[in-house]
Amino acid sequence: MLARMDLPLRHSRVRPLRLADAASIAVHANDHDVWRNLRDRVPFPYLQADAECFITSVQALQPPSMFAIEIDGAAVGVIGFEPRQDVERLTAEIGFWLGRSYWGRGIMSEAVRAVTQLAFDQHRLVRVDAGVFEWNPASMRVLEKAGYVRESVRRKGAIKAGRIIDLVVYASVRSES
Ligand SMILES: CC(C)(COP(=O)(O)OP(=O)(O)OC[C@H]1O[C@@H](n2cnc3c(N)ncnc32)[C@H](O)[C@@H]1OP(=O)(O)O)[C@@H](O)C(=O)NCCC(=O)NCCS
Repeated sequence: MLARMDLPLRHSRVRPLRLADAASIAVHANDHDVWRNLRDRVPFPYLQADAECFITSVQALQPPSMFAIEIDGAAVGVIGFEPRQDVERLTAEIGFWLGRSYWGRGIMSEAVRAVTQLAFDQHRLVRVDAGVFEWNPASMRVLEKAGYVRESVRRKGAIKAGRIIDLVVYASVRSES
C-alpha cells in the first residue's frame, strides 16, 4: 500500500520534512524551553546545520515516520515516532515540538492524534507511547487530549539539564475493531 504522505489537519498540515525546511526548523527549535523537554540528541543551540543533518537522516525513513508541522507554508515544528526493535517492534515512541509562538492553539493535540492513527493504520503498530519529563504538564495534557492514557511513572528515569527527574509514561494502543 502506498503510504499517505500528507495529513491536512484543521490547524496545520503534517507532511514529510524537506531540506528547504532547515532554516525555519532551526529558528523555531533554537529555544531553551523547547530543548529542555526533548532528548539530549537534540542540540542547543540549534543551528541550521543541525536541522539539515536531522532532515537528511529522517528522509531515509520509509515509509515516513518523522514529519514537519506546517503552518502558513512554514515548517514550525516536528512530530514523529521511532519504532522499537526485537520483541517491541510493534511499538514506537512518539516525539514532538512546536515553535513557541504557536503554543496554546490546539495544534499539537490534533497533530498527535493524527500521527498516532497513521502509526496504527500505515505502519501497523499496536502501541505508541511517550515518556514525559515530570515538569512538562503541557505535553501530558496534549497526550491526554489525543487519547493517550497515563500508565506509570518511571521514577528517576531521566537526567535532563543536570537534574534527575521522573518520566511519566503515556500510551495509546490500537483498537482491534
Ligand atoms: C508541549 C507542546 C508540544 C504543546 O503544544 P501546543 O500546540 O501548545 O498544545 P495544545 O495547544 O494542543 O495543548 C496544550 C494543552 O496544555 C495545556 N497547558 C499548557 N501549559 C500548561 C501548564 N503549565 N500546566 C497544565 N496545562 C498546561 C493547555 O491549556 C492545553 O490544554 P487545554 O486545551 O485543555 O487548555 C509545546 O508546548 C512544545 O513544543 N513544548 C516544547 C517541547 C515539548 O515539550 N515536547 C514534548 C516532549 S514529550
